[in-house]
Amino acid sequence: MSATAHGFGARIVGTGSCVPQRVVSNHELAARIETSDEWIEQRTGIRERRICNLEHEGTFTMARDALGRALDAAGVKGSDLDLVIVGTVTGEMACPSVAARVSAAVGAAPAAAFDVNAACCGFVYSMTIADTMIRCGRAKTVGVIGADAMSSIVDWDDRRTCILFGDAAGAAILRRDDDPRYGCVYQALGGDGRQWQSLYIPRRPQEVPPADQDDTTKLGCLRMDGKAVFRFAVSKFREVMEDALTKTGLTNETIGQVICHQSNARIIEAAREKLGLEHDKVHINIDRFGNSSGGSVGLCLDELWRAGKIEKERPFMMVAFGGGLTWASGVWRA
Ligand code: COA
Repeated sequence: MSATAHGFGARIVGTGSCVPQRVVSNHELAARIETSDEWIEQRTGIRERRICNLEHEGTFTMARDALGRALDAAGVKGSDLDLVIVGTVTGEMACPSVAARVSAAVGAAPAAAFDVNAACCGFVYSMTIADTMIRCGRAKTVGVIGADAMSSIVDWDDRRTCILFGDAAGAAILRRDDDPRYGCVYQALGGDGRQWQSLYIPRRPQEVPPADQDDTTKLGCLRMDGKAVFRFAVSKFREVMEDALTKTGLTNETIGQVICHQSNARIIEAAREKLGLEHDKVHINIDRFGNSSGGSVGLCLDELWRAGKIEKERPFMMVAFGGGLTWASGVWRA
């Protein structure tokens, strides 16, 4: 099939991921704050998470290494990339972007490079942007990364939030293809800033909403209304999955893997059950990695890709929600 300027497809040609070596179990947290292994596992499905040693690890190093592994898997050189996108909310510096440093580190400069702030939707948003750039002929080979060192913004004294999060990065290399059937075949990105106070990271006192102005709010740390996010997530997850299946004409039999942002095993399970999806179509790794925000969907994709569970030709779905509030779904054919 010949391609017009707007008729390209995008193939996923390799994936990679990176998690820090250090494992922090629920038991270790329970020795430091008032919580227990049972409480955390029952409410969230998490048993342990990976945490950076921020002296020499962080969002940048994880993003760099995840991209490096994806490039190796794809057999693509850094210098072949013409765009690098990183979905993150934990970049070390406001400027430059994580993407700019990662691009330089893998030899991609002078590729275009920028970060996307869509919280836990960062990877799914970034994949959609990359696909769109390729489809309209503006990019040929793109490195997409979701990366977050949540340990750098978690308040380790706040048991309502610190037990949930972990550090990780996942990456994919997308390459232009002449066949437009490949790549993102359906996407729905959304956001509702009216609900931003459910999950935010304040830098200045004036950003803290009146309801949260108690002495437990720490500047620079994530603050979350867990119950509000839970309610939003349970209904939104199901809604965006149903929408993607309806709009693509796919069913829970014909869809391949449904890769959910690893926010809470109960949220994922509620959506899986409601849609009647088989257990083996919905990957769970939150027990080992916690919620790694922008890193989570890319990390799942890499695990599934390397295990040969992303079938060629069979569409699969990625779905996420997060701070903003934001949500995102994408149906892809690899
Ligand atoms: N260990 C032990 N007890 C804890 C605790 C912890 N880590 N955190 C809270 N509690 C206590 C509370 O103080 C409360 O005690 P009380 O009944 O005596 O007041 C009780 O457990 C219930 O707390 P609650 O906040 O109502 O729990 P929950 O069932 O809503 O679960 C979350 C809390 C955070 C696990 C849940 O709300 C959640 O997962 N929300 C979504 C978060 C999310 O996905 N965020 C990321 C978005 S990308």
